[in-house]
Amino acid sequence: MRIDGSVALITGGASGLGRGAAEALVERGARVAILDLPGSAGASVAGDLGHDTVFVPADVRDTEQVEEAIASAVAAHGKLDLLLNAAGVVTAHRVVARNGELFPLDLFKSTIEVNLIGLFDVVRRVAAEMGNNEPNEGGERGAIVNVASIAAYEGQVGQAAYSASKGGIVGLTLPLARDLAGAGIRVNTIAPGIMDTPMLAGAPQELKDSLAQVHVFPRRLGTPQDFAHLVIAVFENPMLNGEVIRLDAGARMGPR
Ligand SMILES: NC(=O)c1ccc[n+]([C@@H]2O[C@H](COP(=O)([O-])OP(=O)(O)OC[C@H]3O[C@@H](n4cnc5c(N)ncnc54)[C@H](O)[C@@H]3O)[C@@H](O)[C@H]2O)c1
Repeated sequence: MRIDGSVALITGGASGLGRGAAEALVERGARVAILDLPGSAGASVAGDLGHDTVFVPADVRDTEQVEEAIASAVAAHGKLDLLLNAAGVVTAHRVVARNGELFPLDLFKSTIEVNLIGLFDVVRRVAAEMGNNEPNEGGERGAIVNVASIAAYEGQVGQAAYSASKGGIVGLTLPLARDLAGAGIRVNTIAPGIMDTPMLAGAPQELKDSLAQVHVFPRRLGTPQDFAHLVIAVFENPMLNGEVIRLDAGARMGPR
């Protein structure tokens, strides 16, 4: 898909990887709608980005809010060509903690609700919208990028819920691509390694430096710009479909 002149909906676009991709897409001439939590920085980020960027607040766990937010994005920009699903939460708890406390089921459920079910809800609604687009010269009506994590493959101690949610996104990738092929919509997933975003904000520099060591080369944390670079490539390349791409500088995570 051509980025210039397209319209992109970005969940989680108020922060981190989603925000980095929003900036890159606007720079290349896309018009953007940021779907993020009502209390997020979405409105001010939209203001900073300019170029008609709109903030459409929603909690992805609330299907009515999601429906309204997508309708607002279409009302503002007339269509949706690109979808980046970057909204997500990271949670951690041992299955049975050292003090005997069990992994709280509510925490497990809420992680799956945001990262997997919320993402799926956005995909199905946006795919229906994309189906209304005139196909481009290659027959494409839209392109979708979902964000998983290398934790989908190498979940660490405490990451049962997070890894299950991200593994679900990996599993969704091919059947979504197959389901939506008839409409001319491609679906791919990016599985980042360790990226320097507000998700890591609480971590001391020492921990960030040691986390960077899991990257084989280059030995630094990934950035929202590294991520945005790949998002653009995936949106643009018509032969990329049903694929999960690791963006992790060769990292393979150990147990902790
Ligand atoms: N940072 C990393 O190292 C890393 C690594 C692998 C994967 N990821 C994934 O990348 C994605 C983006 O993460 P990030 O590092 O930019 O984090 P971030 O915390 O900076 O951004 C996540 C965004 O998602 C939004 N969000 C959270 N819950 C939501 C909900 N219920 N409804 C709507 N929006 C919601 C937040 O408000 C925030 O703006 C996530 O899916 C995350 O799991 C991050």
